Amino acid sequence: MIGRPSEAEEAVPAAQLPVSVRAPAKCILFGEHAVVHGQPELLLAIDLYTLLVAQGSTRLSLNGEEDPGRTNPYLRRALESGSPPPPLALTTTSRIPRGAGLGSSAAFVAALETARAALEGGLSRPALAQRAFDLERGAQGVGSPGDTSAVVAGGLLTVNAGAGPELWAVTDGTQRWVVRRVPDPAWSWLVAYSGVPRDTARTVRAVSSRLAAPDGPRLLERFRAVAEAGVDALRSENRSEVGRLLGQNQELLREVGASHPRLEALLEAVAPSCEGAKLTGAGAGGSIVALPLPGRELETIRRVTRAGGSAYAVRVAPRGVHLVDRPASMVGIPSEGPPPGA
Ligand code: MEV
Repeated sequence: MIGRPSEAEEAVPAAQLPVSVRAPAKCILFGEHAVVHGQPELLLAIDLYTLLVAQGSTRLSLNGEEDPGRTNPYLRRALESGSPPPPLALTTTSRIPRGAGLGSSAAFVAALETARAALEGGLSRPALAQRAFDLERGAQGVGSPGDTSAVVAGGLLTVNAGAGPELWAVTDGTQRWVVRRVPDPAWSWLVAYSGVPRDTARTVRAVSSRLAAPDGPRLLERFRAVAEAGVDALRSENRSEVGRLLGQNQELLREVGASHPRLEALLEAVAPSCEGAKLTGAGAGGSIVALPLPGRELETIRRVTRAGGSAYAVRVAPRGVHLVDRPASMVGIPSEGPPPGA
């Protein structure tokens, strides 16, 4: 069992330009979609990272783009808010596949808010978690603070589940979500991108309409029971039970229309070498998460690759978003592909 590092709870310190920030990706094990409606969720920060460097400038730019509010919805939202970001030349590079349900936008907003907080004299982590959620939610219009909290906290987390001390609570003014830590059993996970980009806001709206049907409360109750059992199974390090519950959660996600034929093909491909697997994130495209049987990680990667997916063997990233020494090699190197969240 790996204990959590004390850095995870540290406030963002004050810093001067240039500022460099590293933010992990996230992966949801149980409870996506249901968490939007106040139900429990279990998720982890994973060791794929976005790096953001902020340098002084006379105007805001992102990877050389001079009008980034036009192409990046999160910067557009930040610029339209009451406290726009200062004029900075932002450069990002990322190993988190975009539009894959692995938190590329949560990592981007958390890195941006961390840079801003450092330049403004520092900020507590609970306040950073709230700000990152406000920005992501403001841009997407829907969603829960699960993703941004995982990126800010690092480690393994529950939202609205489990006992023990609260790490923080995040609100949208109507609902309040409570975030707690769970000890990490240090298992290896496999995430695999289907290659089908997903649209979180559209999928959240579609699933929310499904959950507004007369049987919605019963479905949400089933999501709750699976997520709570999943938290218990993970806490007791019961791998086969976690695997079984991943499968049950996938059945529910299928029932509310969040799956996709490409995801189902990946799930079928990995089944023989895994304890269990399910889609992760909003679904309707995006990625799966699998818990490989001990010693069968490589076989699972091969199975994913043969089925046309892109596999990433990942572990829990114990540290949430944090300042790093300026990686000189990164300055001036534009990000591959479009900006995060685009
Ligand atoms: C998206 O990664 C997870 C959802 O539950 C939406 C959210 O919680 O914001 C589908």
